[in-house]
Amino acid sequence: MNITTKVFNVQASVKYLNKCVLAAATFFAASSQAATCSYSVVNDWNTGFQGSITITNNGTSAINGWTVGWQYTANKITSSWNATLSGSNPYTATALDWNKTIQPGQSVSFGVQGDKNGGAAEKPTITGSVCSAVVSSASSVASSSVATTSSSSKSSVASSVVVSAASSVVSSAISSTPISTSSSALSSSSKSSVALSSSSVSSACGVSQCNWYGTLYPSCTTTTSGWGYENGKSCIATSTCATQPAPYGVVEGCPVSSSSSSVVSTSSSSTKTSSSVATTSSSVVATSSSVKSSSSSSVASSVATTGLKSLVTFPIGVAVNAGNENNSILNGSTSAQQQAVVFPNFSQFTAGNIMKMSYLHPSEASFTFTQADDLIAFANAHGIKMHAHTLIWHSDYQVPSFMKNYSGDFAAMMKTHVQTIASHFSGKVSSWDVVNEALAEDGDSTAVNGFRNSVFYQKMGLNFIDQAFINARAADPVADLFYNDFNIENGGTKTTNLLAMVDGMKTRGVPITGVGFQMHVLLDWPSASTIEAAMKAVADRGLKVKISELDVRVNNPYNSSAPVYTSLTADAAAKQKERYRQIVASYMKVVPAAQRGGITVWGVWDTDSWLNTASAPDWPLLFDANFQAKPAWQGFADGLTSAP
Ligand code: XIL
Repeated sequence: MNITTKVFNVQASVKYLNKCVLAAATFFAASSQAATCSYSVVNDWNTGFQGSITITNNGTSAINGWTVGWQYTANKITSSWNATLSGSNPYTATALDWNKTIQPGQSVSFGVQGDKNGGAAEKPTITGSVCSAVVSSASSVASSSVATTSSSSKSSVASSVVVSAASSVVSSAISSTPISTSSSALSSSSKSSVALSSSSVSSACGVSQCNWYGTLYPSCTTTTSGWGYENGKSCIATSTCATQPAPYGVVEGCPVSSSSSSVVSTSSSSTKTSSSVATTSSSVVATSSSVKSSSSSSVASSVATTGLKSLVTFPIGVAVNAGNENNSILNGSTSAQQQAVVFPNFSQFTAGNIMKMSYLHPSEASFTFTQADDLIAFANAHGIKMHAHTLIWHSDYQVPSFMKNYSGDFAAMMKTHVQTIASHFSGKVSSWDVVNEALAEDGDSTAVNGFRNSVFYQKMGLNFIDQAFINARAADPVADLFYNDFNIENGGTKTTNLLAMVDGMKTRGVPITGVGFQMHVLLDWPSASTIEAAMKAVADRGLKVKISELDVRVNNPYNSSAPVYTSLTADAAAKQKERYRQIVASYMKVVPAAQRGGITVWGVWDTDSWLNTASAPDWPLLFDANFQAKPAWQGFADGLTSAP
């Protein structure tokens, strides 16, 4: 910690929630050096290890340039990325041009891989002038509620701390009402904590609660992990809450009431108000019970009690919206209804959009991970794994514009793209779509050697695929790495080209784990036997097979003589049920258990399906507009329980 300038004791009186009053105090100094530096072991194996070093700017001004150092007892580094490494124990890492600036509230991470050299994977202390303690300018706190005292109170600050990370905004709920403080004092070492951690929060009420990304939820009293529902409210188990990074986590305060408003907001993208919590809770119950009761008329009554995920051991996934998208699964007007059907049925999420290229890497110098991080934290809290989609995709709106006209070293730029993203999420996602849709459609006149004539192919040829997998593996030694595409199940030239491509990759030692079949299919095309042959051909090569984006629309836009449904008739619903059963049963039949990468449906409920538009309505998913399980759900379940 590096507080060299005058240190103030600031005691803020804070009133929030139901007129419950907490007192706050923390240190503030004029310095802007306000980062924490941490080292984590991302993975280790027999002889090697992967480490990640993260520098987080908790201050109020940007950090421009950084150098950090560390020393191992035995370990030796063999490679590094996203920083310039020098020395050989001690090591020094210096920022690259594109990651030298760290804005307040943002983090930069870089990675190392190495040899354990006879020792265990070590966790050295990261040092450097940038690695100092929390400091914040007093201007970041509502001045009317802050009183400063002399520096003499530095070692005995009353500690009912509510102030969050230095970069956070203290909400308008702060009042100037003075209150008494608890007796525990912040030791001088507390000053080095980034944000005054929520575990140091105390209050007159003393009721255990969870600060979940800036929103207070009650702590569960009987639920031991994950989210629960007690006393008419959603609650979070203490063990789950405790996994939250500072400044979130278990806090003491006054009970959350339905009339309460938001507390200390720390992140605009993830903050919900407590009043929305109360609404959410009650509608969760309503939805759950309605699913259960209505299901008896349409599908098996096991919808609410059993759920698809409990029928098998491999992942059953669903694509979800998050971040700033409409219909986020995390919050918003439909989140409660979504969660009520998602939690019992699905064990894996794919972000429908927010982990695509332009979301994570909008310009060459900036990577934006907050929305994805929030979704992953939410998934973790509910025991849901993440399949990450996608590191490289030709789709015009998803190729960041800086990549389209890139004049520098394209391969080096793509390496940075893949490794920065994959290392950020390493350990947090189970699998990746490394490359999406590189193969050309049958009949594509612009195709080159069977590949789509994308900017990636133009710049690097086939090597763009190999390098993407190699770089992803270097940054994430554990996750399954998939090639993902559509119409590869139809047995045409594209399927042949897929098999040739993966054979070549295997021959060249490219680290591909499996193939994702998107499976945006029609009621009657392709045939089950064709789908089975394509999936079996991939499985026979020792690769995992994933059905990655399954949906079954009932209207066929490619055949003018096909029936046109303007609503989901009983007949269409029955056909769709059988089609879901058939596809899932085909998967169970031809993909050996050890090679099942999972089955993911592309959306939660019909209203939100990408295939349901105003001009071409459709009903492609498992849950209807009222979040009721459709016959399609039963077909899916029947497929899962079919032999073998
Ligand atoms: C779709 C999303 O669902 C839409 O919301 C978005 O407007 C376009 O992309 N294949 C893919 C997915 O790999 O990323 C696409 O997702 C659907 C087709």
